[in-house]
Amino acid sequence: MRKILRLGFLASGRGSNVRAIVEACRDGRLPATPVVLICNNAQAGVLTLARSTELPARHLSGTTHPDPAALDQAICATLQEYAVDLVVLAGYMKKLGPATLQAYHHRIINIHPALRPRFGGQGMYGLAVHEAVLRAGERESGATVHLVEGDYDRGRVLAQRRVPVLAGDTAQGLAARVLEAEHVLYVETLRRILTGEIALPGWDRETQPQQP
Ligand code: GRF
Repeated sequence: MRKILRLGFLASGRGSNVRAIVEACRDGRLPATPVVLICNNAQAGVLTLARSTELPARHLSGTTHPDPAALDQAICATLQEYAVDLVVLAGYMKKLGPATLQAYHHRIINIHPALRPRFGGQGMYGLAVHEAVLRAGERESGATVHLVEGDYDRGRVLAQRRVPVLAGDTAQGLAARVLEAEHVLYVETLRRILTGEIALPGWDRETQPQQP
C-alpha cells in the first residue's frame, strides 16, 4: 500500500491535460488527489475548469507579484501549503524560480508536444512545434513527459507516446492528434510514477506507508 499522492498543477491556458488528469483521479484510475492549481493568467480556460471541478486555484503572476523572487516564493509556499507531493506542469508558459525548483527537486514533471530531445527549447511551443515537425519531413511525432530541472525542455525523459504524421497534415491537425496522445500519456505516466514503475530519485522511500 502506498499513500495517496497530492498533485499540484501549474498551467497557463486551456487546461485539457489538467482535465484529463483530474478526471483520472476522480474516477479512480489514478491513486492521487488533485489539490491545487496555480495559474499565471487570470483569463485562462483552466481557471474555469478548476471552478467547475472544485479544484482550489490561485492566480499567481507578474501582476500579483511584480518581483520575480516574491513570485517564486509565493508559488513555492502555495505548493507547500497544499502539501503537494508532485508538481505537474501542463501548458505552463513561465519558468519556475530557484526556490520552487529546489524545494521540488525531482518532483516536477512537464509534458511537451513532440518527441524530445528534438523540437524542444526556445520558441518551441504551440503550433510552432508542429510546424517544425512538418517542415523537417518527419514521419512521426508524439508527446514526451520529462522531469523539469531548470530549463523547461531539459530533464530526464520519463515516457513518450508516438503518433504518425499523415500525408497532407496541417500543424493544426497534427497538434490535435498529439494532444489526444498527451492526455493518455500524462495519465499513464503518472500512474507508473505513483506505482513506482517509473523511478524518481527517493520516491519509494517517500511513498512507503507510515508505520503506526
Ligand atoms: C500541450 O500541448 C502541452 O504539451 C504544452 O502545452 C499544451 C497545453 O495544452 N506544454 P492544455 O492547456 O493542456 O490543453
